[in-house]
Amino acid sequence: ASTIASQSSAALTFDLIARCSTTRARASNLTLPHGPVQLPIFMPVATQASLKGLTPEQLEETGCRLCLNNTYHLGLKPGQDVLDAVGGAHKLQGWDHNILTDSGGFQMVSLLKLANITEDGVRFLSPHDGSPMLLTPEHSIDLQNSIGSDIIMQLDDVLVTTSPDAARMREAMLRSVRWLDRCVAAHRNPTTQNLFCIIQGGLDDEMRRECCAAMVQRDTPGIAIGGLSGGEAKSDFCRVVATCTEMLPELKPRYVMGIGYPEDLVVSVALGADMFDCVWPTRTARFGNAITRHGVLNLKNAVYADDFGPIEDGCGCICCRRPDSASSTSPSQTQSIPTTTTAEGGDSSGAINVTRAFVHHNTAKETAAAHLLTIHNVWHQLNLMREIRAAIIEDRYPAYLHQWFADFYGDKS
Ligand code: GUN
Repeated sequence: ASTIASQSSAALTFDLIARCSTTRARASNLTLPHGPVQLPIFMPVATQASLKGLTPEQLEETGCRLCLNNTYHLGLKPGQDVLDAVGGAHKLQGWDHNILTDSGGFQMVSLLKLANITEDGVRFLSPHDGSPMLLTPEHSIDLQNSIGSDIIMQLDDVLVTTSPDAARMREAMLRSVRWLDRCVAAHRNPTTQNLFCIIQGGLDDEMRRECCAAMVQRDTPGIAIGGLSGGEAKSDFCRVVATCTEMLPELKPRYVMGIGYPEDLVVSVALGADMFDCVWPTRTARFGNAITRHGVLNLKNAVYADDFGPIEDGCGCICCRRPDSASSTSPSQTQSIPTTTTAEGGDSSGAINVTRAFVHHNTAKETAAAHLLTIHNVWHQLNLMREIRAAIIEDRYPAYLHQWFADFYGDKS
C-alpha cells in the first residue's frame, strides 16, 4: 500500500497507508530513531530491561521492534548513574530496536499503596529502604533522557479507581495537562526522543473532550489515552476511546495504555487506536496459559499431559512452526516477518517442535516452558496485529473482526 498522507516531527515520521471504509481502523508506518514499526502494534513489556526469561535475540525473533521498559524500575535499579555510564537502556540490554518508557507515576500508584500525589509530583516510600522519595515531571523526564528510549511518556496524575469523585478526576485531568507543560520544558533531547502526552478524564466524555483539546494544542509527536486499564465496563472503555479518537489529529500515532486482551485490541483498532501494551500476555504465559486463535488454553490442565501436538496448530512461532507442514505458509507469512538463519543452513525455520505435553510437564517443575510460552504468546499478539493490519490494508476489517470473534469465542455458526 502506498502512503496516503505523512507527517514528521523531529524524531518521528508517521505515514498513513490505509483507512478502513466502515470503521475508524487505520494502518500506518511509524519511523522512530531505532527503525520503522508497522501500526497497529502491540508492544510487549520488558519491565526490568528484559522480557522475563527471554534473550534480546529471542524477542527479536518474534518480530518485535518496539518494546516497553519502565522508568520507575530502571530509575531505582540500576539507577541513573549506571544508565548514564553505559549510555542508556538500548546498550544496557543489548537491544538495537525501539524502546518506549512509561513515566513511572502509574507504576507507583498501582504498585505502591502509599503513593501520595501533590502538585509537585508523586511522593512515595522507596521499596528498597523505605526512605521518602518524590517523582516530579522533571525527574521522570530526566530519567527517561538517561534511559534514551525512543518514545518517552509524560508524568500524569492517574487514578486507578473506576468511580472516583468527579472533582478529584477533574483535578487529575487538569494537573496532567500542567505536568505535560513541565515535561516539555524539562525534555533535554527533543530531536532524538519523542515525548507523548497522556489524555486523562476518567469515564466522563466531557472531561475527556476538554483534555483532548488541551493536549492536542500542545502538539506532541504522539498521543496516549490513559486511565483505562482499571477494569471498567467494556461499554465505558469503548465509549471513552471513541470519544478521544474522534478529536485526535489523523496524522499522529494514538496509543491506548495498558491494553492487551486480544478482544480489546481488535475492538480498539476499529475505534481508531494504533498502539497498545500490556503485561498480561507474558505474565499469563508464566502461569501456563497459551493465547490462541480459539481462546486462552491453560496447559497445566490434565488433558494436555499426553497431548503431543504444538501449542497452537498452524502458529508460526518458533515453538509451534513445523518446517514441513502447511504452517510454514500461514497467512502471516505474507507479511514481512524476520526469518531465522541457522548455523546448519537448511530451511532456516528455527523450529524447535515444542509440544503441549512438554509445556504441561515442565511448567509444573521448571522455567524453560514458561519462557517458550512467553515466546508463543508474544508471537501470537504480534501476529494478531499483522493480520489486523493486512485486513485494514485490503479493506476487509469488519469481516475479519466477525471471523475473529467467532473463532475466539467458539461460535461455529
Ligand atoms: N498504563 C496504563 N494506564 C496508564 C495511564 O493512565 N498512565 C500511565 N502513565 N501509564 C499507564
